[in-house]
Amino acid sequence: MHIHKYEKIWLIFGTATLLVFLSVVGVSAFYLGNQPPSCMATVDPEKVDTLAPFNKPGLNKVEGKEWDYELVFVASAFNYTPGEVEVPLGAKVKVIATTKDVIHGFSVAGTNINMMLTPGYISEYLTTFDKTGEFLILCNEYCGAGHHMMTSKIKVVE
Ligand code: CUA
Repeated sequence: MHIHKYEKIWLIFGTATLLVFLSVVGVSAFYLGNQPPSCMATVDPEKVDTLAPFNKPGLNKVEGKEWDYELVFVASAFNYTPGEVEVPLGAKVKVIATTKDVIHGFSVAGTNINMMLTPGYISEYLTTFDKTGEFLILCNEYCGAGHHMMTSKIKVVE
């Protein structure tokens, strides 16, 4: 009888510990999995082409904002739209990008711009292009067979 009582206590203790463990894991998985990072805007990846600003990829002049232009890119396997774009020297530009399919990178060689593009989310980077020249945009997230061919180009001109 004595031993039996201890076994029962341990059984209850064990079950309770397991339940606490499972609920902690469950709750954290739920929060991590379902809450987007608070600072990121979202977009429906299937409707990207029809939604502003992605319905107008390329360089767009804007008024009444802290930046002069919005440089909009849409990534998909295995290219960027636009494939090449000209930006005036000294322009204060907000780069706005997203992807229509899988995760892609958006890294502009020779600058600090290095973003990850995740389906459903909008990535933004505010910058001033203060050097003339051609800057290659590269995908630095492996995205499939054409990953290494995925490029675009920013030409900063006077
Ligand atoms: Cu797109 Cu790698």
